[in-house]
Amino acid sequence: MQKKRVMAMMLAAAVSIMALGGCGGREGSTNSADSAPAQADTAADTAAPADASADTGDASAAGGFDAGATIGVSLPWLGTQNWKEAETMFTEQLEAKGYKPIVQAADQKVPQQQQQIESMIENGAKVIVVGPIDGTQLGSVLEKARDAGVYVIGYDRLIENTDAVDGVVQFGSVRTGEMQGQALLDGLKANKGEGPYNIELFGGGPADPNAPNFFTGAMSVLQPEIDAGNLVVVSGQTDFTQCATEDWDNSKAQKRMDSLLAGNYSDKEIHGVLSPNDGIGRAIITACEDAGQPIPVVTGLDAENESVEWVWQGKQYCTVAKPTQDLVAKTIEIIDSLQQGNGMPATDVTANNGKIDVSIYELDPVVVTKDNAKDVFKDDPDRLALLK
Ligand code: BGC
Repeated sequence: MQKKRVMAMMLAAAVSIMALGGCGGREGSTNSADSAPAQADTAADTAAPADASADTGDASAAGGFDAGATIGVSLPWLGTQNWKEAETMFTEQLEAKGYKPIVQAADQKVPQQQQQIESMIENGAKVIVVGPIDGTQLGSVLEKARDAGVYVIGYDRLIENTDAVDGVVQFGSVRTGEMQGQALLDGLKANKGEGPYNIELFGGGPADPNAPNFFTGAMSVLQPEIDAGNLVVVSGQTDFTQCATEDWDNSKAQKRMDSLLAGNYSDKEIHGVLSPNDGIGRAIITACEDAGQPIPVVTGLDAENESVEWVWQGKQYCTVAKPTQDLVAKTIEIIDSLQQGNGMPATDVTANNGKIDVSIYELDPVVVTKDNAKDVFKDDPDRLALLK
């Protein structure tokens, strides 16, 4: 039995390497396959008593794992709507499929997230899905996971500087930023007359690998317009480090906006602000209202309920939708593939994480303005109901 499982593990690793064409993924665990399976098996036996796979032989023969296996999901925090949705959707959908989910969020505290992942390993998780607080701080705990034969899937954010990651499911992060930059330009032209336009720039939490990518994408669109004099960053703050918002904390963004307005706009109108997500966008709009400014063109991300309403009312110019249900569905599709012994699905996209080229399962975000909101949310009854 033990031997059969060892073989199965090695087969799974080989299959996934073939599927990935050798890019990133499960290479790490193949290297440690000799020592890994024993621990993984012990864990599996505790978490998922001998039923389906042992009886039918299907999953284990193909190198998969028990259909009722434990699956860990480690989220960075629940401070924005997307993570709350992920918490609910993973719990409900994994349960509905017969898995045993352990879904936890870590309140922006790296040691807490490390500990939660550690206990998922101890509880025999066969796959751990991770949205890292800090892309660079999980290397050793994820290496432990890999050595225990656990698959690691990054969720929404890249996992950096480790080879202990099998793939990442996310919306294109540079692409998202490009869309935000373009939407800011479009909104200025549509709503603020002729340029040049006075703008300010905000970035997300610097530990989150998405945040610099969002900013880079946006600046690829905005920088040429700044250089041409069509956009004026009145504060002069155009570096990511100057514009970032520690921990994605809306109140910190609001304070920065208050001081930018007080220091630079007492005699000027602010026409537009690049915001990396909806929460920060609403904080920026509130600061502008408090300062007696006409509401500038403000971008966003996440299609949070409150921002969908604000977009519909014309208060926030746009958001970018990156539907959690699509991200969760894709992740569960990958978990099913692993469970059935089919390894990580093939993908053409990779991202270098500082150590390896990681397979990326990339979805497309979409800009939402008042004009297309009804269409974008036609299959999302909850958000559609907000457009009235
Ligand atoms: C996610 C965004 C979210 C932000 C803050 C990012 O990594 O992609 O959807 O708004 O984190 O939670």
